[in-house]
Amino acid sequence: MKKITPIIEKAYEVAKEAMKNSYSPYSRFAVGAAIKFKGDDTLYPGCNVENISYGGTICAERSAIVSRVSQKGKGEVEFAVVLANTENPTYPCAMCLQVLCEFTKEDFPIFMGNPTKLTKTMSFREFLPHSFDTLEEGQK
Ligand code: THU
Repeated sequence: MKKITPIIEKAYEVAKEAMKNSYSPYSRFAVGAAIKFKGDDTLYPGCNVENISYGGTICAERSAIVSRVSQKGKGEVEFAVVLANTENPTYPCAMCLQVLCEFTKEDFPIFMGNPTKLTKTMSFREFLPHSFDTLEEGQK
């Protein structure tokens, strides 16, 4: 486990609060996230928002990203926190990794856990060492 600094502790609390807002009547699997972007002190919360047309469901990580981009435009992820009610870490899904990748230049840590504690840290590139991209640096 990477060192838990005060800002990570704060993000953990933000993710925990977001998890309480999870709209997940179909899976009954609540997920909360918090994402910090470089040069921005705001911690963006996200929760999963499900839909009766299941494919319309939005994961917690993507909802946090969309919140940041809606408020301040594109940015670079500094770290992310993902929580669920599971003893073992809940890993970000592949679609969320691809979306996180869109706002990533350097590798960053992803902290995982549950409402009691953080249980694991992994780096983004451990999850996704190579990723689909068609644009060169500076084109985005
Ligand atoms: N979910 C997330 O919010 N994040 C993930 O990375 C994995 C899955 C949500 C989607 C769905 O609402 C519920 O978890 C069960 O799949």
